[in-house]
Amino acid sequence: MKIYDVIIIGTGVAGLSGAIHLKKAGKTVLVLTKNQAIEKNNTHHAQGGIIAYRQEDTEEQLVKDILTAGCHYNSTEAVRAFAKDGPKLVFDFLINEANVPFNKNNQGNWDYTEEAAHSIRRILHYEDRSGEAIQTSLIKHAQDLGIEIKSNHTAIDLISNNHHSLDGQERYRQREVMGVYTLNNETQEVITFLSQNVILATGGVGYLYQHTTNNKASTGDGMSMAYRTGADIINSEFVQFHPTSLFHRDIKGFLISESLRGEGAKLINHEGRTFMSDYHPDADLAPRDVVARAIYNEMTNSGKNYMFLDLASYYEGEVPIEKRFTKIFNTCLSVGIDIRTEPIPIVPAAHYFCGGIKVNTEGQTSIKNLYAVGEVSCTGLHGANRLASSSLLEGALWGKYAADSILAKSEFISKERFDSIPLWETPTGDEETDPLLLKQDLNLIQLTMWNYVGIVRDKRGLERAKADLDYHGHRIMKFYKEAPLTRYIIELRNAVISAGIITTSALHNKQSIGCHYRQN
Ligand code: SIN
Repeated sequence: MKIYDVIIIGTGVAGLSGAIHLKKAGKTVLVLTKNQAIEKNNTHHAQGGIIAYRQEDTEEQLVKDILTAGCHYNSTEAVRAFAKDGPKLVFDFLINEANVPFNKNNQGNWDYTEEAAHSIRRILHYEDRSGEAIQTSLIKHAQDLGIEIKSNHTAIDLISNNHHSLDGQERYRQREVMGVYTLNNETQEVITFLSQNVILATGGVGYLYQHTTNNKASTGDGMSMAYRTGADIINSEFVQFHPTSLFHRDIKGFLISESLRGEGAKLINHEGRTFMSDYHPDADLAPRDVVARAIYNEMTNSGKNYMFLDLASYYEGEVPIEKRFTKIFNTCLSVGIDIRTEPIPIVPAAHYFCGGIKVNTEGQTSIKNLYAVGEVSCTGLHGANRLASSSLLEGALWGKYAADSILAKSEFISKERFDSIPLWETPTGDEETDPLLLKQDLNLIQLTMWNYVGIVRDKRGLERAKADLDYHGHRIMKFYKEAPLTRYIIELRNAVISAGIITTSALHNKQSIGCHYRQN
């Protein structure tokens, strides 16, 4: 059986960056994604942009902005590494190597934009489709390098010596990861992929919530797999809610980028009055957690289900709205909202997971040979609340850090030890799966998380969520053990475990800080 140097699970910016650096250095790399289309992930959906080097900016200023947004709950080591290495990587790797076509202004200079809680315009963008531009360029670069990418392959569980080896002595050794059991979604076959290292780049948890800007694949897979293997997980109570997703019957969870506020847009209530200056001196450009709670508060007090974002009256940019914000303009127009002339109905939605699998500044988890990069990981960069437009860069940078760490290794797992790993044992139960019941299970998780583990939390709600999730969890585990394996059942199992981890952390942390807000 082939033994890879590295298996990477996930094809967003973090996974592909790692893959590219490793492949260029001559490693054998396999990239897996459960999606049919390799670009179907949250990187692709990112709109605003990416923090990049600018001569007028300083490392100290960037450190200060990240720490202020993160309520000083951050890892100062991670923040310093990010401020030192990150902004330049945008030029060295994304622009000069991968050819990402970020926008320039009419004078031919880089068109830096602004978002909340940044003290300087330091964000490069491609219209309002920055993630798509990065993703498209990285996929092309990866394909040109001949990187092996298998789509439609859903990781089930990490393989570890302690859990899986048939050699009894392995259970007494330090735990290490040796590959991943993976379902081929099309053939239903389970494949045993073996490797010296595994990098989890599976993204976040947004799809555990009823309202989210995330795509359907964000079911907490990586965190759940790492948790089952025994990796340390931290800061899981910190789920960031984006203040502005489109509120419309026919379009769910469409992001209305913060860069609209960076270019002048203001939040208004149903009477047309701006309200953010009642909540924070930086008004509409206050940190994201403050803005999301202010909108929630306005909605609760007025009994309305949404507020508005008014770009039409306040836009300050030089490029016409329809060219600067092509995706948002076209999407809104498709449902009859012309953002050039009228305010956009918006509602907060689950957006980004600031917690996750604990990693150091090399992307290493607490388990040997297991790395985590991007949203699934917790580098400590974001602390209690993430600064806007920092996540794509965190993914690209930690992808490189993890690759560098693997390239520096001189110790390898022997072939004999890999030989002790058995093939997957197919469960023999005869449980029938009913897709409607499984869908209902996911809906229940999403409602529970939205209602009780959402923007504003309290003890009673969190306890209720925990009890409900435990109950759903038992039923889902029975399906998982006894029904024929499908991608949906694997995701459901991961979703209920991840939801339980987030809820337990939220219950334990009684202090309101950043995006974890407790009423009691
Ligand atoms: C946005 O465009 O508002 C999202 C940017 C981010 O989440 O960093």
